[in-house]
Amino acid sequence: MATTEEKINTEQTGNEIEGHEIEDEAIDDVKLTEEELKELEKIIEENKGQRGVLINVLHKAQKILGYLPREIQVRVARGLDIPFSKVYSVVSFYSLFSTNPRGKYTIEVCTGTACYVKGAEDILKKLKNELEIEPGETTDDKLFTLETTRCVGACGMAPVVIIGDDAHGRLTVEDVPKLLEQYQ
Ligand code: FES
Repeated sequence: MATTEEKINTEQTGNEIEGHEIEDEAIDDVKLTEEELKELEKIIEENKGQRGVLINVLHKAQKILGYLPREIQVRVARGLDIPFSKVYSVVSFYSLFSTNPRGKYTIEVCTGTACYVKGAEDILKKLKNELEIEPGETTDDKLFTLETTRCVGACGMAPVVIIGDDAHGRLTVEDVPKLLEQYQ
């Protein structure tokens, strides 16, 4: 049975998405350092010529900068010798891939029912005010990306906020500034 990646590939084969054909001039939004470039080339080299490796390659490539700017997508397409449209489709399809810069820490505010009832909305509002960003955005200093999430399975600790790998529970609005300080 065809994998999702293969299905997406099949749908897009020979059907370049308008405005996203590979062009030399296109590789100018982000400049990778020599070291980052080497790392990317190594990832591509290790997977070249194999089938069904695109998601894995993109996953590893995303770790280089924390997201997948156009330059990386184009280089992956060229390196694996596949149309840019395939890479673009896979990146757009999977939520685990981001085309925007991410902060060092992702703050996930649980907005599931238990957390909502215990004041998640107020916590989110306070976070938005403190960080001056909306969910989906990253602070200018690239420290935090704010997100909302569904129940994370810790309802007993509601309201819950996850920062990086840490879960913080039973939070109040007053706790928020101190919480952020821990990561600055
Ligand atoms: S609703 Fe937030 S942890 Fe379950």
